[in-house]
Amino acid sequence: MKLFSGTSNLPLAKKVADLLGMNLGAVEITRFIDNECRVYVNDDVAGEDVFVLQSLSEVADQHLIELCLLGSALKDLGAAKVTAVIPWLGYSKQDKAFRKGEAISVQLVAKFIQAAGFDTVITCQLHSENVMQFFRIPIVELSTCKLLVDALRRESKPGFEHAVVVSPDKGGKSRSEQFAKDVGLDLVYIEKTRDLVSGEVEVKDCVGQVEGNHIIFFDDIINTGSTAIKTSEFVKKKGAKDIYFLATHAVLSGNAASTLPASSIDQVIVTDTIFVPKEKQFDGLIIVSIAPLLADAISRQTR
Ligand code: R5P
Repeated sequence: MKLFSGTSNLPLAKKVADLLGMNLGAVEITRFIDNECRVYVNDDVAGEDVFVLQSLSEVADQHLIELCLLGSALKDLGAAKVTAVIPWLGYSKQDKAFRKGEAISVQLVAKFIQAAGFDTVITCQLHSENVMQFFRIPIVELSTCKLLVDALRRESKPGFEHAVVVSPDKGGKSRSEQFAKDVGLDLVYIEKTRDLVSGEVEVKDCVGQVEGNHIIFFDDIINTGSTAIKTSEFVKKKGAKDIYFLATHAVLSGNAASTLPASSIDQVIVTDTIFVPKEKQFDGLIIVSIAPLLADAISRQTR
């Protein structure tokens, strides 16, 4: 078995390799003068079960092409089975045409991955149940619920007897429902709208009791941070106590890294599905590693 990494999240790939007790496969990923990507696998993979770790984080287009070139090269070298380990599946937010004329981006991303020759995909906490249907190859989705709640218990210790789980929108309700069930807390959900053109978030209402309770938000992504900031403000005004915002994927685009620390949120807990550079880290941000989850999923695939 061999593990290769693209360039999007090398620290995570190294952690996974360490846990598996192996070195990363030898590969050179460079760019031609015109910025086209070139991959060169300098390893013997014939007959091997091979895994390629690559998050489709910014710049998603480039990381996707890199991943596909790696898959293609490994297949050409005779790898027996190639699995794409994609902790963060970029483009998955566009899982439907929100307006007539928009592409269903993640559907095409799935086709690219399949066309590159990958046999299986391992990913973490998908944006929606919709995404699975676009893959014609097996896709394994790893849940980060336990990881995040363990981190919350360890790092913050909110009085769980006075805490409720809040879904920041209706779309994420079933995900939060499962989470609330796992931790044995009540669920509250927020009604929020997002302008399809400007992306502006507006919080309309909140269904359930937040007054006097600690709040544990559970979401899949923090992108611009608008959802996290506005929903937290809303529950704070309604009398919520401490606010913890748990999310799997720290996209942290735009000025999220400077607006989140100034918000009503006491602690943001995310995972390292996406590499968060030092300049995007802030006080009150905790990053827990999904490396053990990935290493375990990879080991199970090879058994
Ligand atoms: C919405 O459907 C998602 O679950 C997230 O709440 C959303 O993508 C977060 O985006 P932003 O941080 O830009 O509000």
